Amino acid sequence: MTYENFARKYRPKTFKEVVGQEAVVKTLSNAIKLNRLSHAYIFAGSRGLGKTTIARIITKCLNCEKGITDSPCGKCENCLEIEKGSFPDMYEIDAASNRGIDDIRALRDNVTYAPIKGRYKVYIIDEAHMLTREAFNALLKTLEEPPPHNLFILATTELHRIPDTIRSRCQTFIFRPPSKSQITQYLKRILEAEKIPYEEEALSLIAEASEGGVRDAASLLDQAVIYGGGEVRKQSTEEMLGIVPEEIIKEFLFYIREKNLKEAVKVIEKLDREGFDLTVFWNQILDRIHNALLNLTLEEGSAEPFGKEDIELLIYTGDIFKKALIESRNFHDKKDIFQLAVLKLRFMKNLVPLKEILEKGITVKQPQETSQTKEEKTPEVFDIQKAILKIGREAGGIIAGALKKSGIKEENDRFVITVDRNLADILKDKIDIISKHFPKPVTIEEIEIKQEKKKPKKRDESVDKVLELFQGKIISYEEE
Ligand SMILES: Nc1ncnc2c1ncn2[C@@H]1O[C@H](COP(=O)(O)OP(=O)(O)OP(=O)(O)O)[C@@H](O)[C@H]1O
Ligand SMILES: [Mg+2]
Ligand SMILES: [Zn+2]
Repeated sequence: MTYENFARKYRPKTFKEVVGQEAVVKTLSNAIKLNRLSHAYIFAGSRGLGKTTIARIITKCLNCEKGITDSPCGKCENCLEIEKGSFPDMYEIDAASNRGIDDIRALRDNVTYAPIKGRYKVYIIDEAHMLTREAFNALLKTLEEPPPHNLFILATTELHRIPDTIRSRCQTFIFRPPSKSQITQYLKRILEAEKIPYEEEALSLIAEASEGGVRDAASLLDQAVIYGGGEVRKQSTEEMLGIVPEEIIKEFLFYIREKNLKEAVKVIEKLDREGFDLTVFWNQILDRIHNALLNLTLEEGSAEPFGKEDIELLIYTGDIFKKALIESRNFHDKKDIFQLAVLKLRFMKNLVPLKEILEKGITVKQPQETSQTKEEKTPEVFDIQKAILKIGREAGGIIAGALKKSGIKEENDRFVITVDRNLADILKDKIDIISKHFPKPVTIEEIEIKQEKKKPKKRDESVDKVLELFQGKIISYEEE
């Protein structure tokens, strides 16, 4: 006995059984009821969404012995033959292998004959975009003067490859992937009919993995039943799909939130060692980040382990992780790329909201201190003006004055203070005290400022920061 897979066994026999495609189903069944069916349709959409299935249902609607109806009986000879694919007035033409003009000419001759057994002849041209230009032209003639009692259905996964001349003579339906919950329901229906035990969570994993393809969902379910030894459990389904278990995803996200990058990197290491597909893992993570952002910004639901205060972190992380995913497509060693992406998060502290930069000049966010006594040494937000005040208190007003006359610029790993040669020595003398009040190492660079000349215009540090942020350059200056 050959095993009939779920997709075939549960192929919808009526409009009611079709998953999703509500608009298509409604329009077609109304058209049949009102006797306003067009003579040519294009069914466009990705694989396994029900294009061929619906074309066959229409054939039954038109040829059921019960009469033209939007709910064919499914029992009469015509209905049964259509389901089997042996009805003489239903022509299923695979344009991928019959793409030439001769094939279409044969079809053109055929349309002039009356139906053999039913009321309508239905031509289902699959992969219609594969037809040659000549074949399309020949088909066009037929579509222009359609003999009665013929219906054409052009199915395609690539609508843009169907010439406009053809499109303008057909009614087009776009088939869209059903929602995840519709697919979950569909899978549940199959398992209940088959009396196969299952866990709901396993079904939503399959629905997720099928990316909206109904046929894909059904075949994944076939596999899951076999893999699970006659049951569809969450754990065995995860294993089969190569999905990383929820606990590990949660752990990884927790480390990201805590900026415990060392541990996050270790999670990747471990998954790689255990043979997980890191791309699958990375997609799971990106999905979670994306959903967390949506939930937090639209104020819907929770986004464990993230809270509102993590929005910036999520945007930044999502961006870096997405770039890593794209980059990883060209590299064999995904692990390195993903680990590097995690390490890049270390530089997140340099990310200061633009508004803040414009209002306050450079400020660098420090990790929140819990102890109040540390306030002096490591303020929460680095503010140069405040730092200079403190240095002044400790090292004297001259130092503070010299700093105010200097240029202070933040670089990746340090601060550079550019100062007039005359003042350099007094600053260098107090470098220890100065350094203490900066969050990064400080270097002092001497420049020559001619006293008699106008002081060179010192650019506001915030300008540098903005330039860096947008990778821009200055095109013009306006004097104050
Ligand atoms: N909307 C749907 N509702 C229920 N089952 C569906 C649906 N779409 C597809 N299926 C299942 O997937 C199988 C394949 O569907 P069908 O042949 O209609 O897809 P298609 O859109 O024509 O795909 P292709 O582009 O690969 O030809 C069907 O046998 C059916 O079991
Ligand atoms: Mg098909
Ligand atoms: Zn019938």
